Amino acid sequence: MGVIRCKGTDLLVWRRELIRRGGRAVDLDWLLSMAADCSWGDLQKLRICPDVEIELSAPLHDLTDLWTRHCDQHIPLQHLVGLCPWRDFELEVSSDALIPRQETELLIDFALQCLPEDACHLEGIWADLGTGSGALAVALARVLPHWQGHAVDSSASALALAERNLMALAGNSGWQLHRGSWWEPLKPWWGQFGLVLSNPPYIPTAVMDELEPVVKDHEPHLALCGGGDGLDCCRQIIRDARKALAPGGWILLEHHHDQSAMVLELLTDAGLERPEARYDLQGIPRFALAQRACQSITSDLSMEER
Ligand SMILES: C[S@@+](CC[C@H](N)C(=O)[O-])C[C@H]1O[C@@H](n2cnc3c(N)ncnc32)[C@H](O)[C@@H]1O
Repeated sequence: MGVIRCKGTDLLVWRRELIRRGGRAVDLDWLLSMAADCSWGDLQKLRICPDVEIELSAPLHDLTDLWTRHCDQHIPLQHLVGLCPWRDFELEVSSDALIPRQETELLIDFALQCLPEDACHLEGIWADLGTGSGALAVALARVLPHWQGHAVDSSASALALAERNLMALAGNSGWQLHRGSWWEPLKPWWGQFGLVLSNPPYIPTAVMDELEPVVKDHEPHLALCGGGDGLDCCRQIIRDARKALAPGGWILLEHHHDQSAMVLELLTDAGLERPEARYDLQGIPRFALAQRACQSITSDLSMEER
């Protein structure tokens, strides 16, 4: 599609009309930016000088179609566009995996704060449990280029999507994908993980029905539902974390807004050290981290035998 020229006043009138029909202005601006290359900055300039012409990479009637499908059928805009910006890259997204959320970006920052400052020059092994689109795995592969990475998911279609994203954004070496449940396919590397991230399904079953249609009708149930209290997956992951982590290795998890105390307790009960909550940008304790003690594997195991 070539460049389409449009009068600024026409674009602003079109925008007002679509918002009047329904949906959120912030989402329409996201669509303009992702599907027509009209940035938030371009829109601000138009408000000051509406008479200028603006260049779009898609015609307004195509955008109207997408917006109508979003509003009428509650299809996520990311699915309609097929892309989602996340940290410093754009991921392919589809109904095969969760659309990566902005708050999850913070897990990478918290992980890097746990590691030595020169971690990007060191070697190590990381894992992303429940990789979905591969968002966390792509980010880890990019910031820790000398580490060996392992991304796990039980969904074959999510793994196919993660593979395309990793190939496109992180090169074709330094990472492996595994189909299976949490730590299970990673047994050969147990005791060696220096860093493990997971954003497991954590929505309590009873809350699933309350989710917006844009989420519950279009994102995989397997990526959302965490069982009765939402902690089934967290429990399974944390149960084997001490055995799977290397001495001194870190695990960081995302969880529901009201699960912080319970997840920290699970981490402590599993024998991990320095359990701590981390907060999202709204001040909600949405992440938990902990470390395996820095002693050697043999002394750790012999402690268990005693
Ligand atoms: C909340 S999504 C997170 C996806 C991605 N990491 C992100 O942050 O956008 C949870 C992922 O866990 C996967 N999953 C669910 N049960 C699993 C299991 N038993 N073992 C491995 N992965 C599982 C789902 O398929 C889904 O991709």
